[in-house]
Amino acid sequence: MDKNGQALQIGVMSGTHSSWKGDALVIGVYEGGEPQPALIHCGKKVESEVRKRLAEGWLRGALGESVLLVPPAGSGLAASRLLLLGMGKKESLNTESFRTLGGHLTQLCHKMRIAECTTLLSLDSHHKAKNKRQQIPVAEALAEGAWMGNYRFESYKSKESKKEEREEYPFKQLYLLVAGERLAAEKRRLTEVEAIARGVVLARDLANQPGNVLNPEGLAEQARQLAGRFPAIKTTVYSERMLARKGMQGILAVGSGSQSPPRLITMEYRKGGDRPLLAVVGKGITFDSGGISLKPGEGMGEMKFDMCGGAAVFGLLQAVAELSLPINLLGVVPAAENMPSGTAQRPGDVIRMAKGVTVEVLNTDAEGRLILADALYHASSFKPAVIIDLATLTGACAVALGAHASGLMGNDNSLLRQLEKAGEASGDRLWRLPMYSEYQEQIKSTVADIKNIGGRLAGAITAGCFLSRFVEEKQAWAHIDIAGTAYDMNSSRPHFPKGAAGVGVRLLSRFIQSHWL
Ligand code: BES
Ligand code: MN
Ligand code: ZN
Repeated sequence: MDKNGQALQIGVMSGTHSSWKGDALVIGVYEGGEPQPALIHCGKKVESEVRKRLAEGWLRGALGESVLLVPPAGSGLAASRLLLLGMGKKESLNTESFRTLGGHLTQLCHKMRIAECTTLLSLDSHHKAKNKRQQIPVAEALAEGAWMGNYRFESYKSKESKKEEREEYPFKQLYLLVAGERLAAEKRRLTEVEAIARGVVLARDLANQPGNVLNPEGLAEQARQLAGRFPAIKTTVYSERMLARKGMQGILAVGSGSQSPPRLITMEYRKGGDRPLLAVVGKGITFDSGGISLKPGEGMGEMKFDMCGGAAVFGLLQAVAELSLPINLLGVVPAAENMPSGTAQRPGDVIRMAKGVTVEVLNTDAEGRLILADALYHASSFKPAVIIDLATLTGACAVALGAHASGLMGNDNSLLRQLEKAGEASGDRLWRLPMYSEYQEQIKSTVADIKNIGGRLAGAITAGCFLSRFVEEKQAWAHIDIAGTAYDMNSSRPHFPKGAAGVGVRLLSRFIQSHWL
C-alpha cells in the first residue's frame, strides 16, 4: 500500500534572528491586531514594519487569517517573506488552537509555495500559565497540527488532477523557534509527537482505502507487514477454519454474505516484561452495506470507513513500536465485509457466540457488535488488565455528539476518568454516556439470550450494553464509539483534511504515556 502525505521535516531552533533559517518567517498576531511578544526578537526593522502594517489594519488577527509582507531592507533575516498569521483571541488560546494553527501554517505554506519556513509562534510566553499543569505545549501542538494538516489521501490521483488541486508538496521544512534552554527537551518531545503523527497517518491511510482494495484479508496482510517491520510485534490471523473451530459465529455470520472471507487479526507487542497487558480492540468492517437489512444508497460510500476503529489499532501499534515503549500491548481487529447475498445472514437468525451467549440477529446492519463480541472475548483470553475497544458502532452516537467528541462507556470509573483526561489532553475528546443496568432490558430476546438491537431509544448505549455481555464484570473495560468522529467529508479544520481522521491514535498514545508507563 502506498504512503500518502510526503514527509514534512520539523525541527526546533534557537539563537538570534540573524541565524534563523528558512525562506519565510511566520509571526503570530492576536485578535485585535496585537503581535505576539516574541516579535521583539526579530530585530528593530522587522518589528517596526510589522507594527506599522498592523496599525494600518492589514490584519485583524482572527484564527487562521494571514497576510504576507516583505521584510524591510537590511533586516538581517534570511527569510524573504514575512507571514503574519492570526491567532484568534488571546484569552481563548488553548492546545487545540495551536494544533489548528499548525494546520493553517502548513496549508498556507503549500499555497504560497514556501519550501522552508520558521515560526515565532512557539517562542514566547502567551502560553505561560501560572501553574505548570496549565501550560500549553505550544511547540508540540504546532508540530502535531502541521503533520496532521500535511496529510492528503492521493493514492488514486493522477499527476494531472493533483496539479489542479495544488503544487506537489512545495512545503518541506518547518523550524520551530524555542528558547535555548528548552531546545533539548523540545527535541525529545518532537520525536514522540512525530511517531504518534505517523500513527495517525497510517490509520488514515488504511481507513481511506476503498472497500474493493482493502478487504479483510488485505487488512490481515497489513498486520503481517507491520510485524515484518517490527520484531517486537507478533501477528496471528484466524481465517474461517480457525474462526469456526473457536466458535466465533459472530464474525463468521457477519462475513458470510461476502466473497471476501472474514478474519480475526491479533497483534501482540511485548516489551514490558511482566508488566500488565493493555488490550485494544478495533472494529474492522471494511465495508458496511448493512447486509440483508440494506442501508439506503445515499452516503453508503462512507461505510468504507467502518474499519476506522481497527485502523486506529494499527496506528497505535506502529507508534508504540516506533518509540519502542516498554509496555505490553495487544491489538485485536475483527475484520469482515457486511454484504447482502444468498449466503448472508438473515434477520431472525440465531447465532451462538464464542463466549457461549446466543444472539438473535434482528437487524443485520447492527453487525459491529457481533464481530466485536467475539473479539472482546478473544482479547479477554489473554488476561489483560484493561480492554479498550474503538468502533464506528452507532449512528445514534454520531447524532448525539457530532464530530467533536466520541462516546465513552465502560465498567470501571477510574479507567473512564483516565481516558477522559487523555481525551482532553490529546484532542481526541470523549464524552461519557451512562450504562445503567436498566438499559440491559432493551436487548432481551424472546428466543435467545440477547438480541442485537435495542430499539430506537438510547441506541449508542444499548450497543455498549450488548458489548458489555462479552467481557467479565471484573474485567476493566471501556468502549469508545467513534461513529461521529472517525471521518469527516466536510471538514473545515486545517489539521483534519477531508476523509478519515485517524481518531483514537492520539487518545490512546496519550493514555499510555500518562497511565501505562
Ligand atoms: N457502521 C454503522 C454505524 C455508523 C453509522 C457509523 C453512521 C458511522 C456513521 C453500524 O454498523 C450500523 O449500521 N449501526 C446501526 C445500528 C442499528 C441497526 C441498531 C445504526 O446506527 O443505524
Ligand atoms: Mn451496520
Ligand atoms: Zn457498521
